[in-house]
Amino acid sequence: MKAPVIAIDGPSASGKGTIAKRVASALGCHYLESGALYRLVALIALRQELMEETSIATAAAGMDVYFQGDEIFLEDQEVSLHIRNEDVGKRASEVARMPEVRKALLERQRAYRQPPGLVADGRDMATVVFPDAELKIFLTASPEVRAQRRYKQLIEKGIAANLAALSRDLAERDARDANRAVAPLVPAPDSQVLDSSALSVEAVADRILESWKSIGGHG
Ligand code: CDP
Repeated sequence: MKAPVIAIDGPSASGKGTIAKRVASALGCHYLESGALYRLVALIALRQELMEETSIATAAAGMDVYFQGDEIFLEDQEVSLHIRNEDVGKRASEVARMPEVRKALLERQRAYRQPPGLVADGRDMATVVFPDAELKIFLTASPEVRAQRRYKQLIEKGIAANLAALSRDLAERDARDANRAVAPLVPAPDSQVLDSSALSVEAVADRILESWKSIGGHG
């Protein structure tokens, strides 16, 4: 039997990461932040000035990555903060349009599905990576709320940010993620859509945990 999966997808800065982490820890499950993998590929592409899809996909397939709590290591170098920069996020959404890159990351993502279960967040967790996930959530929030959240998040990390520029970047990234040919950002037909604009982190996490219990999930 495969370990159960809770898939949480949604647009940039909708709060997926915070919520997914909280749900994973409440259930004692593993956690996969798939966006971090795309950001790592973007970081490599920026550093090595890779432009071609095939060479970026080769780098994605071969990259040596590990996660330790909130820390992320690439080839033994801690890059947790580097990958949060908006230029890396922007490049991530560009490399994420490349079918070969998505293919190169597919099995790596599926390998996180281990007992007792996995909470995975991203854009295509419910549609492509774990189409048989037991629970599928599509988390949204208004563009204004998302820009504010991202601004706060960056400032708290000590990364300089500008609200107007962030709003523009988010809108651009949303459009690119939603309109790409492969694995576009859309809710799966069986996803529960949850608008978190007016909800606290606790309230959103509680709703997901309730849904999980209502379908007989453990925890
Ligand atoms: O932090 P934010 O929500 O803006 O983005 P992220 O989750 O860190 O992902 C960065 C970029 O990777 C996104 O803009 C997507 O283009 C891409 N991505 C994807 O295509 N598929 C995923 N499962 C996760 C991220």
